Amino acid sequence: MYKTVDLNTLKPVEVQNYLQHAIAPRPICFASTIDKEGNVNLSPFSFFNLFSSNPPIVVFSPARRVRDNTTKHTLQNVLEVPEVVINIVDYDMVQQTSLASCEYPKGTNEFIKAGFTEEKATLVAPPMVKESKVKMECRVMEVKPLGTEGGAGNLVICEVMRMHIAESILDADGKIDQAKLHHVARLGGDWYCKVDEASLFKVAKPNTQLGIGIDALPDSIRKSHILSANNLGQLANVHEMPFVDPAFSDDKLKNIIQYYSINPDEMDKELHRYAKELLDSGKVNEAWQILLADY
Ligand SMILES: Cc1cc2nc3c(=O)[nH]c(=O)nc-3n(C[C@H](O)[C@H](O)[C@H](O)COP(=O)(O)O)c2cc1C
Repeated sequence: MYKTVDLNTLKPVEVQNYLQHAIAPRPICFASTIDKEGNVNLSPFSFFNLFSSNPPIVVFSPARRVRDNTTKHTLQNVLEVPEVVINIVDYDMVQQTSLASCEYPKGTNEFIKAGFTEEKATLVAPPMVKESKVKMECRVMEVKPLGTEGGAGNLVICEVMRMHIAESILDADGKIDQAKLHHVARLGGDWYCKVDEASLFKVAKPNTQLGIGIDALPDSIRKSHILSANNLGQLANVHEMPFVDPAFSDDKLKNIIQYYSINPDEMDKELHRYAKELLDSGKVNEAWQILLADY
């Protein structure tokens, strides 16, 4: 059963609640801007993402307040000075970042209120957050209002011109090591989540070769009561139906075949359980060999 909601029948605050819980987790852009007098502002925005890599474009959205339809200082600033430094928020910074979202009066420097250190940027006027492990110097290309009522977003479309990446999060090739950058992301209400070794996992890209598809899996695999939907997705991502590899040798497989030879149904289940174990640890080729032993 599902609860169906038509958004045009709800109050803006209710719409916001459903959307922010459903469209989550969202990365956090910690935007540093200045007004035309040079006053610095620092505020977090989770309506934020990457939209193009060539040209490199990111977008964030300071919305009109649902409460009273006022606009945020960040929006006012980028309209006056179309430059921004987007600082990526990691776990070490999350509480101070939240503090910077307080509605301090215009002209208040949230670097000071939230205890961050200003670091001079190299191409744009707003300062960078020294404590952030990834900073992006951006030129604001366009600001696109999405409405005039409270809750209406304003797309701040930014071209990233230069990035500064802490060496502590780089791998041996000088690329960002995903496991070393402990991103935090915003969900609904007061919820956040954290990226770390325990929450990271890999999904092999289908790449240029097409996966055979779930519909091409043999019935005995597709209708398995043991393999999960994710397991079927892994098996169907091979680009051609695998065949029995005569060189494949596995002691556990030999034991299963020997032990269950008088009970084919149980053998089937045992092979599926073993294949599942292998798939859950990312061993797709081995899992296929176990399942093919069924025929
Ligand atoms: C993690 C986090 C994410 C936020 N995301 C947004 C957002 O995407 N859009 C928005 O309008 N406000 C967002 N806010 C609220 C603003 O940060 C807050 O209104 C802030 O006071 C705006 O500051 P300013 O008026 O100095 O620009 C967020 C707050 C937090 C803590």
